[in-house]
Amino acid sequence: MATIRDVAQLAKVSTATVSRVINSNGYVNEGTIKRVKEAIEQLNYFPNDVARSLFKGRSKMIALFVPDITNPFFPELARAIEDVTNRHDYTFVLCNTDSDIHKTTNYLNALQQKSADGFIIVSGSLTEDHLKNIQAPIVALDRIISTDISSVTVNNRIGSRQAVNYLRSLGCRRIAHIAGPEHVDNAIYRMRGYLDEVKHEDWFDSSYVVSGAYHFETAREAAVHLLTNNPRIDGIFAGNDLMGTAVLNAAASLDIKVPEDLAVIGFDGISMGERVTPALTTMAQPIYDMGAEAAEILIKQIRTPSQKVMREAFKVKLIERQST
Ligand code: RIB
Repeated sequence: MATIRDVAQLAKVSTATVSRVINSNGYVNEGTIKRVKEAIEQLNYFPNDVARSLFKGRSKMIALFVPDITNPFFPELARAIEDVTNRHDYTFVLCNTDSDIHKTTNYLNALQQKSADGFIIVSGSLTEDHLKNIQAPIVALDRIISTDISSVTVNNRIGSRQAVNYLRSLGCRRIAHIAGPEHVDNAIYRMRGYLDEVKHEDWFDSSYVVSGAYHFETAREAAVHLLTNNPRIDGIFAGNDLMGTAVLNAAASLDIKVPEDLAVIGFDGISMGERVTPALTTMAQPIYDMGAEAAEILIKQIRTPSQKVMREAFKVKLIERQST
């Protein structure tokens, strides 16, 4: 196990200089800093935990921020990220932000203090401005933060058009949409995909779009209201699977048979969708692959700070089940 003395000897400096480089305190010229860091890498020297965590983000810790830990989509995403980060010897930390910007920035600052090596963030409200003091690399997952930050998303708008066209192919003629939160970009793209397909229909008006906020209870109440007021609706595209299961619940409470009277399709591909009755047809996101890709991009950026911004967009896939 290399010691601070071995590092000093190899870099031809004093142990006090090595300590200054590790703790980033006191003046050290760039050439010396470079020699010391090379010696640390070459000797695979790791100071004790406290010193290490002060050595500019060498905490070997990666944090994932999710907006709603009660939504099954996010634990499935977290599973992939934990597998990849652990495989690369990083500690994985999961933070639930409740989509609250203050909670999000508090977590960011606290983990920055603990020298987190990098962040994978799912957020509909965070902007580049909130991140200007964060030195560690960031990857935006599922929702884009800015064009200057790497991201992993899916083809939300095209996938939504496919969902509506699939319902049409089954004979649905009046198709409604349960939308996600209006401040979340992927919910907006999914609604736009729905509107691309129906806004020119003679039956269409804004009453065919209701907000479910990506939440079960909100979506269930909205679906009851929608189906009660528009009994001719024969197809519903829900912006995520949790809302899709809420539509099934609402239909059952109104004695509407699925799929005989009403075809229902969701979006996400969470495993819960295959366990409800009837099982939920969905536009499945490659959840595990998305999480794994975000983790691989972040680790690349940690290891090569000059790594250029990367934007990966996966394709969703139709999974037909009993709800259609
Ligand atoms: O179900 C949760 C939703 O929030 C998913 O559609 C996912 O895309 C995330 O944005």
